[in-house]
Amino acid sequence: MSRQYRVFPDPQTLAQQFAVLFAERVFRQLQTKQNLCIALSGGGTPQLWFAETVKNFADKIDYQRLHFFWVDERYVPHDHSESNYGIAQKLLFDNIDIPSGNIHPIPVTGVPETDVRSYTAEIKKYVPIENDRPVFDIVTLGMGTDGHTASIFPGQLNLFDCPDFVAVSENPHTRQRRITLTGPVINASEAVYFLATGADKAPLIRDIFAERAIAETYPAAHIRKRNTEWLIDRKAATFIDNK
Ligand code: 6PG
Repeated sequence: MSRQYRVFPDPQTLAQQFAVLFAERVFRQLQTKQNLCIALSGGGTPQLWFAETVKNFADKIDYQRLHFFWVDERYVPHDHSESNYGIAQKLLFDNIDIPSGNIHPIPVTGVPETDVRSYTAEIKKYVPIENDRPVFDIVTLGMGTDGHTASIFPGQLNLFDCPDFVAVSENPHTRQRRITLTGPVINASEAVYFLATGADKAPLIRDIFAERAIAETYPAAHIRKRNTEWLIDRKAATFIDNK
C-alpha cells in the first residue's frame, strides 16, 4: 500500500485546505458519534491551521462535542513559549466557544512519571478503548528534520512496541524531556493527518515514500499507511512526483 498524500503550493494554502478537510471530517463523524476525541501535535505547522480554523470555522463547528488532547508535550510549564498546550490555547481555544472541560492538556507538574499516569487516566476516562488501546478519532502529526514524529525520536523506536498509552521521552538534540503518546496508540487512531512543510523535510519524505532502508530509522516512517494522509507543501514534495 502506498502512502496517501496531497501537495499544496505553500504552507498557508495547506493550512487553509486542512482547516476545510478537518471541518468536513468532523461534520461527517458527528453524524454518527456524539463526541469526537482529537489529539494535536505541536511544532510550527499546526499554528497556521489553528489560525485558519479560527478565521473560517470558529462558529461553524460544534466544539461542545469535541475533546482535544495532545500527541505530545515539551516538559515546560503551560505558560512557557514552547508549550504545545499553551500555544494551542492562545491561538485556538481562546478564540472558539469550547468548554474548558473539553481540553485535556498533558500535565507538567515536575514529576514526569506522575504526569504520564495522570494523562493516561484522563485518556481512559474520555477516549473509547478498543483492543486495549484508546481510539482517537483524529490525530495530527508533524515530522522533524530528524524523522521524529510526536515526541518519538530516532533511537526511540521501542515506543512503537510499548503496551503503555503514554511515555516519557527526550529530545536527544536538546535533552529536553517530553511526554508523548506511544506509537501503538497513534496507529490505533481512526485517522492520522501528517502536516509537513519546507525543503528540509523533502529528503525524509523521499526516503519514507520510496521505502528506502534509511527510512526505517525515522519514527515518522513507522506510522501506519492505512487511514493516514500526508499534507505537504511543494518544497517538501521536491523529490516526489506531484499528483
Ligand atoms: C513538537 C511536535 C513535533 C513536531 C515536529 C514538526 O512538539 O515539536 O509534536 O513532533 O510535529 O517537530 O514540527 P514543525 O511543524 O515545526 O515542522
